[in-house]
Amino acid sequence: MTVRLADESRPSQQHRSQRTQTRFDLSLSENPFPPLPSVLRAVNGVLAHANRYPEFLPRRLPKLIASHVGVHSDQVVVGSGATGVAMQIIQALTTPGAGIVYGSPTFDGYPIMAEMAELDVVPVPLDAAGNQDLWAMARAVDKRTGLVVICRPHNPTGTVIAASELKAFLCSVPRRVPVILDEAYAEFLGPTDQVDTLALLDRHPNLLVLRTFSKAYGLAGLRIGYTFGRSELISRVRRLQLPFGVSSVAAAAVTASYAAEPELAARIMRITTQREALRSALLRRHIAVPRSYANFLYLTGPGVATALRRAGIAAKAYPDGSARIAVGDLEADNAVLRALESLR
Ligand SMILES: Cc1ncc(COP(=O)(O)O)c(C=O)c1O
Repeated sequence: MTVRLADESRPSQQHRSQRTQTRFDLSLSENPFPPLPSVLRAVNGVLAHANRYPEFLPRRLPKLIASHVGVHSDQVVVGSGATGVAMQIIQALTTPGAGIVYGSPTFDGYPIMAEMAELDVVPVPLDAAGNQDLWAMARAVDKRTGLVVICRPHNPTGTVIAASELKAFLCSVPRRVPVILDEAYAEFLGPTDQVDTLALLDRHPNLLVLRTFSKAYGLAGLRIGYTFGRSELISRVRRLQLPFGVSSVAAAAVTASYAAEPELAARIMRITTQREALRSALLRRHIAVPRSYANFLYLTGPGVATALRRAGIAAKAYPDGSARIAVGDLEADNAVLRALESLR
């Protein structure tokens, strides 16, 4: 069977009617573009052998990712999206009743996984500007803490903590407490906003960097994520690797994606340019939107989520009426602006 090649230069909303009856589904901070033709061709090639199992424990994919990141392959664990890998980290490194400290609100997966693993959640409110409050988080770490999560950029606000603050924070966390540095959106950061994760790993044996192919690489449906860290900690996480748990498609899709970095970079540029244009237009309409470094915007204020829903735009809604929307699809972005006209 061959997967039909989509028009690679256009954002796709073709799945929206399957998920909801909405006109635009911007609720999951997805990449609006369908996979590149070269990636689809690679995936198709592997599908022809789908009667065969993938590797018993993945070796090719960690090796590939390790050489791309600049670490040894025994420093990488791969899994079913960053979510699958985060769950593996939680199961490998924490025990029921331990505390998990994170900035709140955060990626929905963390409170869900914490409940599954019977962890005690310690949500630390974001500051007024939508940043993780690192000093409050440092104060929240105590002898019961089993895990700390820092997102950079943060979901849902898109904000980025300064590298210097991150460094100071990591120094304040006891070495027995693992820290996930969730970089699900790192590829959307400009070069000067990126943090030197390898240098951080040199200093912090308790650090695990978490990344995904769901966002900038646009492969959310294939479920490919990974973590890298010091080999001692990573070997504890790898012990829970599910046999045959990573599909053969994953290595093919990642190989093809790494080979297509220039095309993917062009898409990232389109998404971030579109993000800035939409944010400026929203600010002009007096809707407060923190500066975002990811592929989404966090529109604050009462009534935003409701106005979007009424206009047939699915957003991630928050209890105070704020909403997070994925960006990059010009048609959808214009619909957002029209939907919010009445809020002026
Ligand atoms: C901060 C953050 N981490 C992790 C994930 C999980 O990504 P995935 O499981 O698709 O790799 C997401 C998805 O929205 C996210 O926003």
